Amino acid sequence: MDLKGRNFLTLKDFTPDEIRYLIDLAADYKEKKKKGILTDTLRGKNVALIFEKTSTRTRCAFEVGAHDLGMGTTYLDPSGSQIGKKESIADTARVLGGMFDGIEYRGFGQEIVEDLAKYAGVPVWNGLTNEYHPTQILADMLTIKEEFGKLEGLKFVYMGDARYNMGNSLMIGCAKLGLDFVACAPEKYFPNKELIEICKGYAKESGATLTFEPDVKKATEGANVIYTDVWVSMGEPDEVWEERIKDLSPYRVTSEVMNNAADNCIFLHCLPSFHDLNTGIGKQIYEKYGLTEMEVTDEVFESKASRVFEEAENRMHTIKAVMAATLGA
Ligand code: CP
Ligand code: NVA
Repeated sequence: MDLKGRNFLTLKDFTPDEIRYLIDLAADYKEKKKKGILTDTLRGKNVALIFEKTSTRTRCAFEVGAHDLGMGTTYLDPSGSQIGKKESIADTARVLGGMFDGIEYRGFGQEIVEDLAKYAGVPVWNGLTNEYHPTQILADMLTIKEEFGKLEGLKFVYMGDARYNMGNSLMIGCAKLGLDFVACAPEKYFPNKELIEICKGYAKESGATLTFEPDVKKATEGANVIYTDVWVSMGEPDEVWEERIKDLSPYRVTSEVMNNAADNCIFLHCLPSFHDLNTGIGKQIYEKYGLTEMEVTDEVFESKASRVFEEAENRMHTIKAVMAATLGA
């Protein structure tokens, strides 16, 4: 499998075999790392990490992954560069493309990362946009594969705002890899019709199914994986909280939901998560609306079914695989 020189902007651009290859490559890197085997075959290369939105996991995954591969990294934070304010994306792309071997971008519209890729002349990796979060899906699928030994035929339920980066990307990933994807949300939070049509095409090839079900009991029955994300994403205005709380509270992942799923069901979340009052935003929401937990209860988050920290670790192994494959390690 030769992915050298490719961008990683959305899973739509990758075949099921290519996605499976990246997941397997990540598992291989993970095993080597656990055994202490060095994999620094990209010595002498450098990558730029642009973050127009904040991050813990994605930034650390790119930095540690790059260092393990022998590469240098430069982090450009949400305020510390000229991007957007004094310099266009096209100009930034050409400047960075001349100095670096690869560029990660996290920010707003998907068109920005597409533009960056158009002008950079080196591989560009999407570290999250409003529309997609493709590196997250590789980590999620690796975690599921580690648990069940397979991906095909598993029932995967996404609860919450399925119109945004996580819902979109998980639907694409499931459709390409043959899982039975269920979006469980009020109808207005379903992914857009155009993307659903595209994913139906992938599902036809892979044997996946796509279901859109507002009824929590029906949607989660027999599920192998229950997944959720925050109700309000980075970059969205504070004003949307009230409506989201009202609309999505019935879609909180609770023990009742988990008990309705299969006995072997695991809980996943891309993180960060509001499952207690130990966060600044969590406290503010509690003071304003009286909620002590949001998209998932603390009980489920801390339960034996929760694999969220294994999933977070897998961000690093999978992002390493993306950089290695596209830079030709
Ligand atoms: N899941 C995820 O992308 O986390 P960060 O926002 O911390 O990078
Ligand atoms: N939907 C979330 C995902 C965070 C990893 C956001 O965009 O903020």
